[in-house]
Amino acid sequence: MQTPVISMANLSVAFFGRTVLNGIDLEIPGNSITIIIGPSGSGKTTLLRAVNRLNEEFAGCSSSGTIWIEVSGTMADIYADLHLSKLRRVAGMVFQSPNVFPLSIRKNLLAPLKVMHSLSRSQRHERMEQALKEAELWDEVRDRLDDSALTLSGGQQQRLCLARALALSPRILLLDEPTASLDVRSAAKIEELLMKLKERYTILAVSHSIRQVKHIADRAVILSAGQMIKTLERRELETPGLLEGLVDEIF
Ligand SMILES: Nc1ncnc2c1ncn2[C@@H]1O[C@H](COP(=O)(O)OP(=O)(O)OP(=O)(O)O)[C@@H](O)[C@H]1O
Ligand SMILES: [Mg+2]
Repeated sequence: MQTPVISMANLSVAFFGRTVLNGIDLEIPGNSITIIIGPSGSGKTTLLRAVNRLNEEFAGCSSSGTIWIEVSGTMADIYADLHLSKLRRVAGMVFQSPNVFPLSIRKNLLAPLKVMHSLSRSQRHERMEQALKEAELWDEVRDRLDDSALTLSGGQQQRLCLARALALSPRILLLDEPTASLDVRSAAKIEELLMKLKERYTILAVSHSIRQVKHIADRAVILSAGQMIKTLERRELETPGLLEGLVDEIF
């Protein structure tokens, strides 16, 4: 495998002493889509949240093991080598249901950009436009940037959340069931978008859809009860019935 962008070694996470991820070793290469699939409660969201250290925001969480991510050509330990705010910029996250701020579309993008003190006001506006274009939302919102983000459709809100992550120039996108709350058409639009975005980013996503995994994943990671059961590469995902068989066994 090429040099990984995310590398996890013996990662375990517990909440109030109950283990929910147990000894995960995983390497994720760049410019690809890796999708985690597994039953409800198997630890998928927890695994994503480990990468940007979001688990520790919850009471009762303890974790062990190491995660490195590639930043500017070197592997950085997410605990020892990276400031939390930098880590959260480098590893942007989009949640299952779009969590837009109850502010204008414009402010949804500009507010997080304020943390980047080196950017001038006009540079922040440029970033906003660029991120909305990258998330393929610009044409739909350019004439209504001062409308509330809550007036957007579910699919548009999800693309706004993606734009918000993209505006901070991430290296990694952590996407927790990004199409789960969307209709078939909006979901297809996001899938096509992710296929383009992987040219520039490393995508680690969670999905419940076998169809989606087969359609867009370069690699599937199967989790069950906090353990990594199997990793399937693209070639194996194309083998008829292989993924379906494993999923039938586990679910
Ligand atoms: N903040 C928390 N406090 C206590 N337990 C938690 C917390 N977050 C997750 N857990 C527990 O960890 C386990 C894994 O949860 P997680 O959300 O990672 O599952 P999941 O695979 O994403 O499930 P789903 O498909 O339903 O989203 C579950 O048993 C859950 O109850
Ligand atoms: Mg989840």
